[in-house]
Amino acid sequence: MAADHRLGFRPVREEIRETLPTEGDVPEWLSGTLLRNGPGTWNAGRQPLTHWFDGFAMIRRFRFRDGEIEYANRFLDSEAYAHAREHGELGYREFATDPPTGLLGRLRRLRSTEFTDNACVDVCRIGDRYLATTESPLVTEIDPDSLETRGRYAFGDVTDTTTVHPQYDFDERELVGYGTRFGGGSTGGYTLFRVPDGSEDASIVGEIESDPPGYVHSFALTPRYVVLTEPPFVPNRLALVTGSSVIDGYEWRPERGTRFHVVDRQSGKTVTRHRVPPFFTFHHVNAFERGEDGRTKVVVDLIAYEDASVIEALRLRRLVTASPSLPTGELRRFSIPLDDSRDGDAVESATIYPGHVELPMIDYAHRNTREYRYVYGVGNRKRPPEDFQNQLVKIDVREREAETWSEERTYPGEPVFVPSLDRDEESESRNGDGNGNGTEDDGVLLSVVLDAEAERSFLLVIDADTMTERARAWCPHPLPFGFHGQFYAEGQERPTRSMS
Ligand code: CO
Repeated sequence: MAADHRLGFRPVREEIRETLPTEGDVPEWLSGTLLRNGPGTWNAGRQPLTHWFDGFAMIRRFRFRDGEIEYANRFLDSEAYAHAREHGELGYREFATDPPTGLLGRLRRLRSTEFTDNACVDVCRIGDRYLATTESPLVTEIDPDSLETRGRYAFGDVTDTTTVHPQYDFDERELVGYGTRFGGGSTGGYTLFRVPDGSEDASIVGEIESDPPGYVHSFALTPRYVVLTEPPFVPNRLALVTGSSVIDGYEWRPERGTRFHVVDRQSGKTVTRHRVPPFFTFHHVNAFERGEDGRTKVVVDLIAYEDASVIEALRLRRLVTASPSLPTGELRRFSIPLDDSRDGDAVESATIYPGHVELPMIDYAHRNTREYRYVYGVGNRKRPPEDFQNQLVKIDVREREAETWSEERTYPGEPVFVPSLDRDEESESRNGDGNGNGTEDDGVLLSVVLDAEAERSFLLVIDADTMTERARAWCPHPLPFGFHGQFYAEGQERPTRSMS
């Protein structure tokens, strides 16, 4: 195998738990657990899985204690994975690969509730429970120490799919999320819900009608509003019957435009809707309210693509080539007036950073729902990308400047920002002018990086203010490229990354 990104699509077999050899100095204040999720294998026996997002979940854990890093990895013991191992083919419909059955089977599944429990996308904590999540409503509880699978957890089980990116509001002390309803007799749309601290049950905030609903992967939160950004990537009933898989049932309908639904968090009522020229997005970065010319605007920052072709570009056959061509996701800012106008011209948009950036991260605990200054993410040295994601990027949204970290033949994953514990919280709130201040980037980024030449991955610890390396800890094997993770600081209740 060539020493390049393709190593990140090779399955892992072994499950390991060991203290990692470390170079450099891990900050002494860094104490806690980085839990990450992503595929461990794309092997379903004789049936090939076709998409990066289809792989069977494997949890990775990095535990920081007294300057040492302990690593562990373990496959999620899902029914979907067990079925594939036993029967040599899929038993459940994954993101882009369908079980091998005929038309009757597909018709049956249209009405079935047999969602996959292959929760390979993110982790989340509700109360004391640690959960592995995917867009299916089937959430799986895991033991954060042994990484054993504990069983199903019924969370947000009111809709056909549930977001993997619920948000936590540190002021209201509640988790906010949404699910998508595909209709099937009733009207399709989205159901907003909240889970207050101390509760394990979701209560419904409101409904947004949209039929058919679009593919919506994340959303934006401000103190008063939820903003749902709906790209014109919508289910086609006919394709669900004649086509295959979850995502092959969707089609790009640019004439619908992309819609912003702004919903009042208290009343659950839609305050305004705006339609803008079509774009696609997976990830929101941040949002906040701002007064301008006597009007209140909601400012939404997100990663925008020209269209939904990024989903096709992430098929394994396209990724496992020497230089995969990936579309550019750029950081865009939309300013949405709250007047009851549906005129898309009222929405201003600007590109903040034109290079590719994905898996965005902010100082979530201090800056989410507020004006802020720094975004971190994975990126590419070229636009359009001619390689898999090969650098980390830090974008100053105020000065519109960027700094990067990269090394030849290394491929970094999502950088999780952990604020420094030494940070003076009092001075932070005193200097919080709403435009960011000297302490916002006081912390580290944690990124799992594939070193293709060394044929191993390492956990990289970077100073977020200077974007220079502080330490790296070598894993005993190369890890398949994953998606999202959370850092749970020792003795702190809430995770510290972007989104819950
Ligand atoms: Co995501």
